[in-house]
Amino acid sequence: MNTTIHTEQHAGITDGLNRPIHDLRISVTDRCNFRCVYCMPKEKFGKGYQFLSRNELLSFEEIVRIVKVFSELGVRKIRLTGGEPLVRSELEKLVEQIAGIEKIEDISLTTNAVLLNQKRAGSLRDAGLNRVNISLDAMDDETFMAVNDVGVPVQKVLDGISTATAAGFDSVKVNMVVKRGLNEHSILPMAEYFHGSGQILRFIEFMDVGNTNSWKNSEVVTAAEIAGLIHAQRPIEKVAPNYRGEVANRWRYLDGGGEIGIIASVSEPFCGDCSRARLSAVGKLYTCLFAADGHDLMRLVRDGVSDTELSDKITALWSGRRDRYSETRTTESVLRPKVEMSHIGG
Ligand code: GTP
Ligand code: 5AD
Ligand code: SF4
Ligand code: SF4
Repeated sequence: MNTTIHTEQHAGITDGLNRPIHDLRISVTDRCNFRCVYCMPKEKFGKGYQFLSRNELLSFEEIVRIVKVFSELGVRKIRLTGGEPLVRSELEKLVEQIAGIEKIEDISLTTNAVLLNQKRAGSLRDAGLNRVNISLDAMDDETFMAVNDVGVPVQKVLDGISTATAAGFDSVKVNMVVKRGLNEHSILPMAEYFHGSGQILRFIEFMDVGNTNSWKNSEVVTAAEIAGLIHAQRPIEKVAPNYRGEVANRWRYLDGGGEIGIIASVSEPFCGDCSRARLSAVGKLYTCLFAADGHDLMRLVRDGVSDTELSDKITALWSGRRDRYSETRTTESVLRPKVEMSHIGG
């Protein structure tokens, strides 16, 4: 996949730090069939938790209209997230409509893959989904079940990864969030399993998204530690990014076993090139993953604004953007109100 960001040639809007808008990450639901301890801990997202009702969510028509306006402002990549995006019924229809927007070049999905059976993967591919990123945090059931907290075994996700690979997506990547004391012992088994598989495994530093995952800096296993562990097992070397602003640092095995990625949002923040906007399931536009609140685009759409007015509003919001949370994180900022992962999708 060679999606390129050329700031110089980007005809779209830029923010207050001269960063173009290029990606839009869209959360299609706040619901999930997992209760990952670092994302939707059961104590906070238990039986009594009030999930959004259907009419509180942006409809597919509303999402498509908003994406069209964004595409005219510079957005080329769309990522569908959740919660778990596959719990939203008929997601294929949304993919198909987004794929029909002329300027959109790449559509991808981030999923836990439990609902990704052969039929669904095929219909998503046919609808125009280009790439899939699948979350898997351990190779042994005991650890993985301690993470997902709903008793889903590793094999279920491995099946989803095989299904996605067989469906012929342009790429299938595997995301492993690493949290000290929870799953760092799985780093090497995961690396070994995906070595030579063609699927790119990415290790993600545990982040302080939202206010419910009790994040502590001491629980972050840094990119340097992760790379060191892997290098000692099988030597790796750095590879240049595929495009400016790529989230993962790329590494390659010297033995030809393929590539891995490390997403070092805490120890090596990448805000300088951040060209990502986020649309929550209720239609709020967030200019940073760690923002406290978003701007209510659903209200505007339901109040009957014209495309020009919507475009002007987005332009004004993006022009005023100066977010660089990960570069300025402090003990205090970790505690201030932030949107939850399940509302914004990472
Ligand atoms: P690719 O296009 O395949 O590179 O996808 P991606 O890595 O951007 O998306 P994915 O949904 O797989 O996210 C992987 C990890 O990166 C998740 O933990 C996200 O929360 C994190 N991530 C993605 N974008 C940002 C960002 O702008 N800031 C921060 N801090 N983390 C991000
Ligand atoms: N820190 C880092 N990554 C996270 N994800 C969910 N919560 C966190 C967190 N606190 C990951 C998911 C998924 C991606 C969208 O974000 O595992 O792969
Ligand atoms: Fe669900 Fe993904 Fe959050 Fe886990 S990390 S609870 S799979 S949205
Ligand atoms: Fe972008 Fe905010 Fe992430 Fe920095 S912390 S890369 S500004 S989303």
